[in-house]
Amino acid sequence: MENQKLANTHDQKCRICNSSLIKLLDFGRQPLGNGFLNRVDFKEEYFYQMEIGYSNTSKMVQLIKQPEPEKMFHDEYAFFSSTSKNMSRHFEEFAESVIQSEYIDKKSPFVIELGCNDGILLKHFSSRGIKHLGIEPSENVAKEANKHDVNTVCEFFSENLADKILKEYGKVDSFLAANVMCHIPNLNDVVKGIKKLIKPKGVVVFEDPYLGDVIDKTSYDQVYDEHVFLFSALSISYLFGLHDMELIDVQPQNTHGGSMRYTLALKGSYPVNSRVENLIEKEKSQGLDDLGKLQKFSENVEKSKLDLITLLKDLKKQNKTIAGYAATSKSTTIFNYCSIDENLIDYICDTTPIKQGKFSPGMHIPVVSHSEFIKNPPDYAILLAWNHAKEIMQNEKEFTKLGGKWITHVPKVQIIE
Ligand code: SAH
Ligand code: TMP
Repeated sequence: MENQKLANTHDQKCRICNSSLIKLLDFGRQPLGNGFLNRVDFKEEYFYQMEIGYSNTSKMVQLIKQPEPEKMFHDEYAFFSSTSKNMSRHFEEFAESVIQSEYIDKKSPFVIELGCNDGILLKHFSSRGIKHLGIEPSENVAKEANKHDVNTVCEFFSENLADKILKEYGKVDSFLAANVMCHIPNLNDVVKGIKKLIKPKGVVVFEDPYLGDVIDKTSYDQVYDEHVFLFSALSISYLFGLHDMELIDVQPQNTHGGSMRYTLALKGSYPVNSRVENLIEKEKSQGLDDLGKLQKFSENVEKSKLDLITLLKDLKKQNKTIAGYAATSKSTTIFNYCSIDENLIDYICDTTPIKQGKFSPGMHIPVVSHSEFIKNPPDYAILLAWNHAKEIMQNEKEFTKLGGKWITHVPKVQIIE
């Protein structure tokens, strides 16, 4: 094992602790996950080598190379949070739990959210007249948040920006983030900024896709350009521990195919909930800090790829039509890693207007509106937004009634009967 570890040691250092990264898996040449594009832009399309590595010190699984943030987050960012009703409900509950929590000053509360997108979470603070601020570098989605009376700063968060916010707005009770901490490469700088911004009894509450679920479900499509990290309680404890902060609570979430909500505070300011120790023990027995177990995940991913290609090719041989359902950034990883293009998939349907009429990143499969799916239903639809399976199955009863079938790759490649 030690030799294998050395052979796979990579030049890129861990972004958290600067130790050498051990390469786990190579997904090959990949485009931007949300880089839906027009035909005229095919020639100029950006690609990079997508590989993941692991640090035995910080326990952090991470991309070895990540494209620059400005390439991914800009005024034409294609992901609008409020496209899912379930996510809207989830964030309403999240807001409610923060407002009711012991961590917030009941008289003059102030919350900040990192990556507030179209205001899906902060609008619930705004509507109650609670002082809030969203930090959102993608201008088009930030403008959407402003329409819901959400105050925003259109910049990437950093320690520098924290200094400016502190002067203008003062300290916060709760620093919130959902599906964005795992996007940011320089997390030590982010945590330094957060530490300056929170009150002595302030907390950080954030949630992201959880490494434990990714391993359990072989949901390798959680790896794409934006997701520079796959977190666990082990790696989050390590990161915040470097800054004298500690994990005081953890709460698993069903969103995004399995996420974890982490609550952190300055060391010693709150009792630590027993859920933290329990989860860390569970992670150790699952092997989230064990290189051998992580390498087994890589083998499972390679098998999943072969199974999916075999299934699609078999269906094609039987003259079946196949379409993709929802042009997710996750699907960019699957299609490029498995080399699945228009020879196998006729189109991908998606409800987001900015994606429609464009082509999928890398494989250039046409993206069409949902009404195309209704007009021209395929024999088989690959469930690319498998994390929204319940909501989609509920909406598409007619498709299955007419004989349409769903394909999923999570937790294993199969036709859903
Ligand atoms: N919180 C929303 C959006 C997640 S997508 C949800 O859970 O649905 C990630 C968002 O974070 C994008 O809108 C992106 O523009 C923003 N983002 C990316 N890097 C950031 C950074 N360094 N600081 C603040 N926001 C960032
Ligand atoms: P996500 O998996 O990153 O949340 O992305 C969801 C994508 O799926 C987004 O582009 C919208 C699309 N979508 C549909 O097209 N139809 C649906 O019913 C749902 C829930 C999502």
